[in-house]
Amino acid sequence: MTKNLEQMKCLFEPQSVALVGASGNPGKISYNILSNIVASGYKGNVYPINPKGGEILGYKVYGTLEEIPGPVDHAIIVVPAKMVFDSVKECAAKKVQVVQIITSGFSEVGNNEEEKQIVKYAREHDMRILGPNIFGTYSATAPINSTFGPADIMSGGVAILTQSGALGAAMIGKTKAENIGLSSIVSIGNKADIDEADLLEYLMQSDQTKVIFMYIEGVKQGDRLVRTLKEVTKVKPVIVVKSGRSKRGAMAAASHTGSLAGADGVFDAIMRQCGAIRAETVQESLNWCKFLSNTSLPQGPNTVIVTNGGGIGVLAADACEKYDVPLYDDHENLKGIFADKIPSYGSTKNPVDITGGANSAGYEKCLRAAFDNSEVHSVICLGCETAMIDVENLPGMLERIYHDYKDTKPMSFSFFGGDAIEKMVNDLRAKGVPIFNETYDCVSIMGALYKNLHNMNEPAEDYNYVNSIKIDEVKINEIVNKVKADGRTFLLAHESAELMRAAGVSMPVSKVAHTLEEAVDLATSMGFPVVMKVVSKDIIHKSDAGGVALDLENRDEVIDAWEAIMHNCRKYNPNAKITGIEVCEMVKSGTETIIGARQDSSFGPTVMFGLGGIYVEVMKDVSFAALPVSKKEAMTLIKSIKSYPLLLGVRGEAKKDINAVLETIIRVGKVLLCCDKITDIEVNPLVAYEEGDGAKAVDARILLTKD
Ligand code: COA
Repeated sequence: MTKNLEQMKCLFEPQSVALVGASGNPGKISYNILSNIVASGYKGNVYPINPKGGEILGYKVYGTLEEIPGPVDHAIIVVPAKMVFDSVKECAAKKVQVVQIITSGFSEVGNNEEEKQIVKYAREHDMRILGPNIFGTYSATAPINSTFGPADIMSGGVAILTQSGALGAAMIGKTKAENIGLSSIVSIGNKADIDEADLLEYLMQSDQTKVIFMYIEGVKQGDRLVRTLKEVTKVKPVIVVKSGRSKRGAMAAASHTGSLAGADGVFDAIMRQCGAIRAETVQESLNWCKFLSNTSLPQGPNTVIVTNGGGIGVLAADACEKYDVPLYDDHENLKGIFADKIPSYGSTKNPVDITGGANSAGYEKCLRAAFDNSEVHSVICLGCETAMIDVENLPGMLERIYHDYKDTKPMSFSFFGGDAIEKMVNDLRAKGVPIFNETYDCVSIMGALYKNLHNMNEPAEDYNYVNSIKIDEVKINEIVNKVKADGRTFLLAHESAELMRAAGVSMPVSKVAHTLEEAVDLATSMGFPVVMKVVSKDIIHKSDAGGVALDLENRDEVIDAWEAIMHNCRKYNPNAKITGIEVCEMVKSGTETIIGARQDSSFGPTVMFGLGGIYVEVMKDVSFAALPVSKKEAMTLIKSIKSYPLLLGVRGEAKKDINAVLETIIRVGKVLLCCDKITDIEVNPLVAYEEGDGAKAVDARILLTKD
């Protein structure tokens, strides 16, 4: 067992709990926490701490932690902010393993320094901190409710990790109202130390936990979260809601790749890469959690929709496409199942329309036939209230079906109509039947189930191909160190080209000429046409300065270009120190792509891919992934852009060399990972040729850390 897991066990399954700042005043937060601990039936030792001593809720109150006779593995601090650090020190002296700091007044109000000091001290003493600024933790395994939220929590299989305290506390009430049992709920607050990744390590191995729901506002140490999520989602579903989808953060980003990333694009792509299932709203995630913690897994992809209305059938089919629910298409078998049970004017094609004339007996016949057929793996049952339907018999029939088949095949229901239908939906939901008014809600839970099944069946990433690709890390670091020593935070074009060559990325032949004669000689030996670009650390935007000349066909054009570039650049910035002019092989045209790699402020090293030109500039058609990527993940990155068919070849064009693009993505990613001084790399464009002819990078921009 890892040290982290051992300490997380002290959070979820403590042997003893000290409550520092326990008050006998029922109006105080600490009193509520103690009374919740008592009400939850916690069996371990409870030690309230208050210098006043005495007794609270029947427990002896100790003046200090030191006075407690036995060991304490878990402490909850509920004293005002200015007293917290001293209490943390006392906890460390008592060898407490985990401390929850309920108190507010730290980094959330700008008091970052003290928060950092507290965590540093705790870590130096092998102690972990949850919070500060939290409402506490509930764990069904202990059981213990050390929150100051509602006392009445239903135990079950859903674990909730929430960064918002108020929303978390409200979710306790909401889950109770919706009949959703919790295995745990943890308020993470400022995430000064313990974060989602630490908690996921515990929840992954907790038998009580069937589904994990995370409400996230911001990600810190995202690279750890990525690694942990990839493991957890192979074992159980993780559902994520993220607030703060704004693109504001992107505006401040230094590079093109950064500005394309957006705040949400990267998060969304990385969650998908990790197998986490992203929900739009808290309500949607709770629907998914409830369903996933109670249903059996489908044995295969064949979903059948049974409906008495064509309209809602079509809506459901649309929703199936949106939520990736695979629909069963074997018309012969469908006909065999349903033809003798529905009128001739119904439809045995999926969605199966049992017609508006169907009553509950008709539904039951069709539903049983669907569930009893071994080729059908899951069923979505829809209904509109018609005059023909015997609403009084409907709830009983649906409940029977649910109980008879819920352990073997997943199902979800949606019924739409008046008061009686509303009542039926509410009553059945209270009994745990997955039933909704809204067709999309009914389909989306099935979508979450199939995403989870897909994640669990996906083999673990294979890095053999990636490991077989070698780059010259020594040379790359040498180049970067030289630029750093020169006091720059960016590489000049010829330095970037040299670095990319060291990474095995195909770059055009190029050399810096310091005189006109040298330029002519270089161009002649390289072969025409050539490109010429100014080399100056004072001119970053070479084209804006008139420092680039393309497609130079002969000696005379090279001479003219030399003079024009020198003239333009001196005019653009008279003080610029011009090192020379780079003469490069002119790259043949092909399909332009763009590859970016950067240190994302949340997730650490990430990679981006897109098609060049308008696809990236106007359409922002790019995809992201966290590094390192496996071969399969790099392929997913390429396939995720909308313009991917252009790489496959459209309108008679040949397929492009996708393998060469994929290899370049992996090489660029490896560069970022091998040198922590690099913050941004942008290969733009990488020209992809026809399959077998490779890809060539025309230009690369590399930025370095500022420190
Ligand atoms: N050791 C033990 N007990 C101590 C102590 C110490 N070093 N210093 C003070 N105490 C006692 C106090 O005497 C008091 O007990 P009493 O009622 O018997 O006098 C008790 O601890 C609590 O201290 P008090 O000063 O009354 O604070 P409070 O209860 O009003 O507020 C917090 C304390 C932590 C709740 C408050 O500072 C806070 O941060 N509130 C916001 C919490 C929050 O919203 N968190 C985020 C949720 S999402």
